[in-house]
Amino acid sequence: MTEKSLLPRHVAIIMDGNGRWAQKNRVSRLAGHNAGMLAMKEIIKRADVLGIKYLTVYAFSTENWKRSAEEVGGIFGLLVKYVASELAELDENNVKVHILGDYGSIPRAAAASIEKALATTRDNDGLQFNIALNYGGRQEIVRAVRQICYLVENGELSGADVDEQLIAAHLYTGTENQDIPDPDLIIRTSGEERLSNFLLWQCAYSELAFSDSLWPDFTPDEFERIVRDYASRERRFGGR
Ligand code: IPE
Ligand code: IPE
Ligand code: MG
Repeated sequence: MTEKSLLPRHVAIIMDGNGRWAQKNRVSRLAGHNAGMLAMKEIIKRADVLGIKYLTVYAFSTENWKRSAEEVGGIFGLLVKYVASELAELDENNVKVHILGDYGSIPRAAAASIEKALATTRDNDGLQFNIALNYGGRQEIVRAVRQICYLVENGELSGADVDEQLIAAHLYTGTENQDIPDPDLIIRTSGEERLSNFLLWQCAYSELAFSDSLWPDFTPDEFERIVRDYASRERRFGGR
């Protein structure tokens, strides 16, 4: 099987470089994260214009708790601010918000904002905007294995029933009412070329693209160039 790609259905982004952008511009790291939120807003709009169905952004990893309490608190504070100022517009644009990750254990105010965003946009069927929040790829797989073990212990499944589909169904991307397709394209900004525990199961055949731009400097035009470049790649999926 070899297939010429059209525009990607699902684009995932590792939004990296806020801290370095802050340093470069001699502002606080939090101001860097704020600039990153503004960049994200513009990318969502362009993704929608391009007709991308699923946009996933890596907003906070399970490893990001290692940062100072001040920075972590600041990031979640920005999230609350972002939801308060953008939710109405996202909803008007028919965007559906979905969370990948354990948002039950983030600060209460942030979790409440997320609940509100999910409830407000649940019936929308435009662009699906997935926020990876307190997300880790290994943690996600451990969680799926635990859920499946529980079903086996209760006699609802046997070990032989475990296959790729079943595991995928227990990931954050395989929720009860919908399956999010694997990302066709994963973009990372800031010149780093690693996945940092992002979508480890789902990335099996994703195309990868790296940009040297620091995330707050990443423009919709650069995003569009990368997305269009993807369309010229040939995906083989193990075939010839
Ligand atoms: C990415 O920017 C945003 C988060 C991880 C929350 P960074 O804060 O990692 O920026 P750098 O890598 O320090 O420049
Ligand atoms: C990955 O960026 C996580 C997010 C963008 C939210 P990091 O900056 O945390 O990753 P490392 O530490 O450079 O691998
Ligand atoms: Mg970083």
